[in-house]
Amino acid sequence: MSCLLSSNTPNNEIPKTYVQPPDQRPGLTKKINVPIVDLNDPEGSIRDIIKASRHLGLFQVINHGVPLELMNNALEVFEEVFKLSPEEKAKVNKENDINKICTLYSSTFHFDNEITHNWRDAMRTSCESLEECMKFWPEKPERFKDIAASFVIALKELGSRILASISQELGLGAEYLVGNQLSKDSTLIVNHYPPCPDPSLTLGIPRHTDPSLITIIQSCHVPGLQVLRNEEWFSVETPPGSFVVFMGNQMEVVSNGELKAVEHRVVNATEARTSVVFNLIPSGDCIVGPAKALVREGVGELYKTFNYKEFFSAYSAPKTQALDHVDVVQALKI
Ligand code: OGA
Ligand code: NI
Repeated sequence: MSCLLSSNTPNNEIPKTYVQPPDQRPGLTKKINVPIVDLNDPEGSIRDIIKASRHLGLFQVINHGVPLELMNNALEVFEEVFKLSPEEKAKVNKENDINKICTLYSSTFHFDNEITHNWRDAMRTSCESLEECMKFWPEKPERFKDIAASFVIALKELGSRILASISQELGLGAEYLVGNQLSKDSTLIVNHYPPCPDPSLTLGIPRHTDPSLITIIQSCHVPGLQVLRNEEWFSVETPPGSFVVFMGNQMEVVSNGELKAVEHRVVNATEARTSVVFNLIPSGDCIVGPAKALVREGVGELYKTFNYKEFFSAYSAPKTQALDHVDVVQALKI
């Protein structure tokens, strides 16, 4: 395991390996108005979801059915993982977890091959078969497994509701995107961005799109998430009690470009920030491609058809240049 920043955060100067090239560094940004979708409003919600998805590729959901107490407990128990002693943290990467179902790491999976490190620690776990995955989850804090499992179950349900609405409104029928291989798997990523002595020089996560159909994000009160629109970065607020939902690159492919994946990044702050990111993704053996019903005459298929596991290994391969992942996603276009 690479040395976790949260175990040993430099408190004055930024180590050179964390300093971003000048053209990647964060500058001043405006706030973006994220459309609010009220899931309690049966009239508006489906229409609002699709309107927001088409317009910006992201929206904020309220009245989503996930209890506030569960959201708060989950954020709290996830934050605690990064406060464990280095010995306890080391135990999270269990030796018998040969498939790396649950891992705690710093920056990316490829710390040793990076040119510039991200100012970020993370814990990533698959959630496909909860019972199986839970075996590899941290044993401490003691309430971790109970709370995290309830949180994952709630987010799977919320994700299915949102996907069913999108599927319906795209004209694919509610079941095209839900209850099958296209959204069978999910991953939970807890990001922890330690206090940064100079946030003008670093990034928590550089520019990327998520490898998901949709991504559901919850964040603590410290801002950091930014989206790219017309080559300009805007900061996104994630108010307590709400989730922000992003279109991922698999949605862009399946919808044949009707819904675009959102390019985003994370900037650091002098305060610590924790975010919880839930990705709804296809199963490894799923073949992903544009839905036939959305391939219009005269336009044709705008994206290739591919195996998800192969896409994901290219997506998560070591990056040698800052924008490599964008090329992997670009390569999906015909
Ligand atoms: C991610 C991501 C956003 C955040 O983990 O892919 O974009 O706010 N995180 O931490
Ligand atoms: Ni992301």
